Amino acid sequence: MSQVPENIVWHSQTLSKGDRASQKRQNPSVLWFTGLSASGKSTISNAVERKLYDLGHHTYLLDGDNVRHGLNKDLGFSDSERVENIRRIGEMAKLFADAGLIVLSAFISPFRADRKMVRDLVEEGEFIEIYMATPLSVCEQRDPKGLYKKARKGDIKNFTGIDSIYEVPESPEITLNTAECDIEACADKVIAYLKQNHIIHD
Ligand code: ADX
Repeated sequence: MSQVPENIVWHSQTLSKGDRASQKRQNPSVLWFTGLSASGKSTISNAVERKLYDLGHHTYLLDGDNVRHGLNKDLGFSDSERVENIRRIGEMAKLFADAGLIVLSAFISPFRADRKMVRDLVEEGEFIEIYMATPLSVCEQRDPKGLYKKARKGDIKNFTGIDSIYEVPESPEITLNTAECDIEACADKVIAYLKQNHIIHD
């Protein structure tokens, strides 16, 4: 649903996003990790969140498997359900950014149009797309939950990378390949980007 329902009027609040962010001495942003299952989204986003926390920043991490236990437990993996999954996550990321937080999100988010939709939802420069470029062969070999194996056998349908598409980002802000760089090095690369782009300070 893209239209605002009738008779619903936006109510201005006393405190602004700027007030909440400046109290936390940080620039809100959305670090959007995207990539195949087992590409390292959850691992690296957890490591980045830990580093931000240790630097004194206020963060919140939204993770695919966890959000699908609660808010999105009514959604499966058809194309339309994935679109709705990302739409809700995007709105949630926007709310958390409005609260003044640095939001990290770790969802396959296979479709370019949906990632663009979230980019457009938040403020200019706030959306940082982090493409986990770990090759499918490596993800499949890792297979921590045994899901690739099940997908190959046909026991799971519409599995990303097997019988459901993943659209590679065209110009992500950051690209990481966990087959080539370890957790620490990947997380440091994200922190370095945030410093260089004055999202966080030294
Ligand atoms: S997304 O495509 O809608 O963005 P999301 O990140 O929320 O996916 O959930 C992906 C997680 O759900 C995977 O890490 C995996 O553990 C699990 N999963 C279960 N079924 C599938 C499937 N058909 N395709 C991809 N992931 C699946």
